[in-house]
Amino acid sequence: MVQLWRRATRSTSSFSGSVELVTTELIDGFGRVHHDLRISVTDRCNFRCTYCMPQEGMEWRAREEILTFEEIERLARIMVERYGVDSIRLTGGEPTVRARLPLLVEKLAALGVDLSMTTNGVSLPLLADELKRAGLKRLNISLDSFRADRFLELTRRDELQRTLAGIDAALEAGFDPVKINVVIMRGINDDEILDFAEFGREKGVIVRFIEFMPLDADEIWNNSLVVTQSEIVDILGAEYDLESVVRTSAPATRWRYADGKGEIGVVASVSESFCESCDRVRITADGQFRSCLFATEETDVRALLRDGSSDDVVAEALERTVAAKWAGHQINQVQFIRPRRSMSEIGG
Ligand code: GTP
Ligand code: 5AD
Ligand code: SF4
Repeated sequence: MVQLWRRATRSTSSFSGSVELVTTELIDGFGRVHHDLRISVTDRCNFRCTYCMPQEGMEWRAREEILTFEEIERLARIMVERYGVDSIRLTGGEPTVRARLPLLVEKLAALGVDLSMTTNGVSLPLLADELKRAGLKRLNISLDSFRADRFLELTRRDELQRTLAGIDAALEAGFDPVKINVVIMRGINDDEILDFAEFGREKGVIVRFIEFMPLDADEIWNNSLVVTQSEIVDILGAEYDLESVVRTSAPATRWRYADGKGEIGVVASVSESFCESCDRVRITADGQFRSCLFATEETDVRALLRDGSSDDVVAEALERTVAAKWAGHQINQVQFIRPRRSMSEIGG
């Protein structure tokens, strides 16, 4: 898992001054090599999930603060061509509220990466086909309850039926796999764990149960609301015969049903952090580069993309940010500091 520090020294200069590019990999001080880029395309959302956004008072970034498609494409190209980034996920806020999203998908698909998106699903009845044609490969769709009243309480939008229709639209458009993200919260939706499992088995989608993380805007998070991976797996294991699946660098721990009817995952950020195998970096909608979901510092890449800096200068900023990445988050420890941004401003 931990790889040796590889140095392929490449020195160059640009009109912004002399630049030292020291590696052909985005590698940090712990030897973690980064191949996975998450791009938030907007901070806006058409839902207001309680574990993410406040009901009111969210201030959207001004249009000119948000990276253009051309700026996103340039940044992605630098990361793909120089550092072998081979996986890009579009996130938000809600990515589908960004106008002309399929155009961006087309540009990024041309880079030849595993291109995916995480969405609340509500726009998919309209957009799924077009996104598929544009080159999007995989979709993760958030759904936290099958009960209309509870769905409304959790998302503050009465959109259960359209979200379910969005899942169907994704399957009909041919996305494979389709994953369903369920943020499980104690006393709120933890009584639906088996309903989700059954839904996944019947629909042929991969359900992932996500531990609630302290990234909600209203700061309702506390440890007692977290239903841990072991609790979730105990509930599922009492009903189904589960077999462990070897995990990849992705955050979900995976199990398959022994009867062959698909698989489930658990994203156990709180109880079993997976930071030591992290290979992810993020760019926010307003062009701030983050080496960790929980990072408290970010690098203003937008400024470099707009001040005439060369690709080498941009690349050096990326390398430096990743080189300074910390070992991992410290949820549940006294020294834990919440990032200033909440989930919708980072993209998950
Ligand atoms: P796959 O490539 O399909 O496995 O996607 P994913 O699970 O990485 O992405 P998705 O956007 O569906 O995220 C699912 C959950 O994992 C969300 O709650 C994310 O916030 C969380 N997540 C994604 N990446 C990280 C990470 O690097 N660290 C932590 N702690 N959580 C993450
Ligand atoms: N904790 C865990 N997951 C969260 N998500 C949003 N907020 C939180 C949180 N506080 C999930 C969404 C979506 C993904 C991008 O992140 O449900 O699936
Ligand atoms: Fe919107 Fe996603 Fe946040 Fe819900 S979790 S409010 S759908 S960005």
